[in-house]
This record gives sequence, structure tokens and C-alpha cells, in this order.
Amino acid sequence: MLRLDKKVALITGLGQTSDDGWGIGAAIAMKLSQQGAIIFGGNRTLTAAERTKARIEAEGGICHVQQTEVTDSASVKALVDGCVERHGRIDILVNNVGKSEPGCPATMEEEIWDQQMDINLKSVYLTSHYVLPIMEKQESGGVVANVSSIAGLRYIGKPQVAYSAAKAAIMQFTKATAVIYADRRVRLNTVVPGLIYTPYTRELVKRYAPGGDQDTYMKMRDEQVPMEKMGDAWDVANATLFLVADESRYITGQELVVDGGITSSTERV
Ligand SMILES: NC(=O)c1ccc[n+]([C@@H]2O[C@H](COP(=O)([O-])OP(=O)(O)OC[C@H]3O[C@@H](n4cnc5c(N)ncnc54)[C@H](OP(=O)(O)O)[C@@H]3O)[C@@H](O)[C@H]2O)c1
Repeated sequence: MLRLDKKVALITGLGQTSDDGWGIGAAIAMKLSQQGAIIFGGNRTLTAAERTKARIEAEGGICHVQQTEVTDSASVKALVDGCVERHGRIDILVNNVGKSEPGCPATMEEEIWDQQMDINLKSVYLTSHYVLPIMEKQESGGVVANVSSIAGLRYIGKPQVAYSAAKAAIMQFTKATAVIYADRRVRLNTVVPGLIYTPYTRELVKRYAPGGDQDTYMKMRDEQVPMEKMGDAWDVANATLFLVADESRYITGQELVVDGGITSSTERV
């Protein structure tokens, strides 16, 4: 079940700043590798990507990485070209890079708005722009998983309007493109994480509760979830694996929400 033997997976944002814990991108790369995929990854900081590469290789997987700025067209093209030059194909694309900045329209600087649109939304357009024509030409087609957020579905307790708007847009970008590509052997779906504990999550306290206590902030996040705790990167990686595997071959243009029940509830959010 859910084998990806010899499939080539291009993943953005698979970097890892330390060996302590797992970010979503790194966990997706490891999970897909464990299922037999060959990983090609792009990340802003090369040393962080090399850490994930080393962890994958330590388990016998194949992973190559390339320094990539996902908001820059030439850099994304170079990533896609690098993958095709090395492996001759791209079977799976995972758009994982994303980041939130606080702010409502009145307080957010225009520059931050533009940056949020670029990193969260334009990045998905850019990789799709270069990868979809390649997948379409392949006899076996291809599959795309875009990483959104429940902030694109609900207000989740903190002002982050640009991030919310961009993450919502990813879902509709994915739906519309999935219909266009439905008869071209290319599937696209969105994985929608809820509150997930990753190494980056501890950074959120600096953005959303300045001066606050990290443990109190983490407890507050746990308490928002009907299952009473945040998910982890593996919960998102497992959902992503399903969406890129042949077992989901009749599913396209959909969202798979991984949130411990938050968006099904009106009580804790
Ligand atoms: N964590 C959560 O609770 C949560 C919840 C819902 C949705 N999500 C979404 O899940 C995805 C992953 O989030 P995460 O928190 O687990 O982060 P992550 O995957 O652990 O790390 C993000 C990675 O993206 C890289 N990156 C950042 N900006 C980049 C850029 N402009 N170009 C290339 N690479 C870049 C970072 O590299 P550097 O090392 O250079 O920084 C880092 O390695 C994001 O789309 C996020 O919005 C997360």
C-alpha cells in the first residue's frame, strides 16, 4: 500500500534547522522516501536542506537538494531543470513552503502583504508553471500536493489576514487547476494542516504573543484542538503520502484537512 517506488518527488521547503524534531517539509520528504520515492528538494537555506538529505540517506534513501528561493522565477526554474537533468522526470510535486506574518489590513505594511502573497501563493504558481507542462508530457502524468492551512478556512484566533487569504487562494488555485488537468493524467490536491507542532511553531510565540511564555502559548494551542493536542509533522506527511500515491488516483481538486477536529467544531476555536 502507498508505495512510491522510483517515483521522483520534487519538494519545496524540506529544510531542517536542527536534528531536534521534524518540520512538515522534512517529514514529507522522509515519508515519501521511506515509501520508495527519489527526493529532489529546494530550500532557501542549503545547510538546512542538507540536514534533511543526510537524515534521508542515513535510512538508505536517495535525496538531492538545491538552494532555491521559491518566490524567484529563475530560481524555481533552476530547481525544476536540476531535477529533470538528474532524473529525467517529475512524478510528484509538493509545495510546502509557507510562512505567516501577523497583521490586519489597517496595520499591515504593504511590503509585508506583498511578501506574504509571494511566499505563500506566487511560489505555488511558479512551481506549477514549470512542472505541470513536464507532467503533462509524461505518459504516467503526475500528481501535486499543495500545503495550505486551516487559516485559509477559518479565523483561528490570531490576525494574519495575508496568510489566511493566500492559503485560501491555494485551495481554489488547486481546484481550478485540477479541473483543467483532470483529462491530462495530472491530479492536484491540497493538504490542510491545523495546529501542528514543528520546530518553527515555537517561533510563533515571538510573532503572535510577543514577550509571552512559550509553554503557555503551546498549551493554549493544544487547548484549541478537540483532540486536545496539536498534530505533528508526521500527521501531515501521512496525509500528503495518501494524496500523492496511486491509492488516491480518483481524487483530484480536493482538500484533506488534518486538524484534530478544529474545523468541525464551533467550541474551541
Ligand atoms: N506549523 C504549523 O502549525 C502549520 C500549520 C498549518 C500550515 N502550515 C504550513 O505548512 C508548511 C510548512 O510549515 P512548517 O512550519 O512545518 O515549516 P517547515 O516545513 O518546517 O519549514 C519551512 C521551510 O521552508 C523554507 N523556506 C522558507 N522560505 C523559503 C523561501 N522563500 N524559499 C525557499 N524555501 C523557503 C525554510 O527554509 P529556511 O531554513 O531557509 O528558513 C524551511 O526549511 C507551510 O506552508 C505552512 O504554512 C504549518
